[in-house]
Amino acid sequence: MIQDFEPEATRRSAGDAESSRASRGWWDRNADEYQTEHGAFLGDDRFVWGPEGLDEAEAGLLGPVSFLKGADVLEIGAGAAQCSRWLAAQGARPVALDLSHRQLQHALRIGGGIPLVEADAGALPFRDESFDLACSAYGAVPFVADPVKVFREVRRVLRPEGRWVFSVTHPIRWAFPDEPGPEGLSVSGSYFDRTPYVEQDERGRAVYVEHHRTIGDRVRDVVAGGFRLIDLVEPEWPAWNSQEWGGWSPLRGNLIPGTAVFVCVRDE
Ligand SMILES: C[S@@+](CC[C@H](N)C(=O)[O-])C[C@H]1O[C@@H](n2cnc3c(N)ncnc32)[C@H](O)[C@@H]1O
Repeated sequence: MIQDFEPEATRRSAGDAESSRASRGWWDRNADEYQTEHGAFLGDDRFVWGPEGLDEAEAGLLGPVSFLKGADVLEIGAGAAQCSRWLAAQGARPVALDLSHRQLQHALRIGGGIPLVEADAGALPFRDESFDLACSAYGAVPFVADPVKVFREVRRVLRPEGRWVFSVTHPIRWAFPDEPGPEGLSVSGSYFDRTPYVEQDERGRAVYVEHHRTIGDRVRDVVAGGFRLIDLVEPEWPAWNSQEWGGWSPLRGNLIPGTAVFVCVRDE
């Protein structure tokens, strides 16, 4: 979809409603480009945690594959539901949720019969204790103003001892320009500045919002959401991966982490 204005990039506060509205619009407008650019790397039915290419089939962050068989799984910010398709192939019963209608149309295009739900991660349209597991590869969490609200929702829909595993941009990246080349290697801002990155239209309305939390913030958010953190994985850049994905590249990936995967379990 064509955007008829040049958005202005700025740093300013952006609340829950404004962030959600911006994300829905941005992903609806950019889903086609995202799937064209990254669809081949993601694969139609692989579970990839981020641009490094960490594959759940090898990482096992969701738990043993035997546990996935028959498990009710909620994928949040599923995009074209590639991860859900992999989960279904392991015998799980995934539901793929996303805010963007256009992303879910791509899920339909690829197929596989995964149940799709168009909804905001901050208000999950499911009964309490509906799922054994929840997961998200870069879906929703980096884009919401109130991650604790999302985590509490995830906790509510998980059964006791349910796992919640999500990946986000590694917080250290906030301090660097989002560039794949050498210019992306010099600190340009404060890691401690939580002011959101906002792109806005000519009337000052946000059209894209990304929220920053430090590593410590994320740990506290997980705990405040009602979870125990059992692992924090920082995937290393593998030798086979020569792709650039936005600000992710072999050059930077070999020097600084680009993704953080939080492995959490529902606290009693
Ligand atoms: C970077 S994409 C990741 C998509 C997919 N997980 C993947 O790995 O390709 C982020 C996804 O999160 C979705 N998203 C953003 N904010 C959301 C929210 N508040 N609730 C649900 N989904 C959201 C977007 O629509 C988009 O599909």
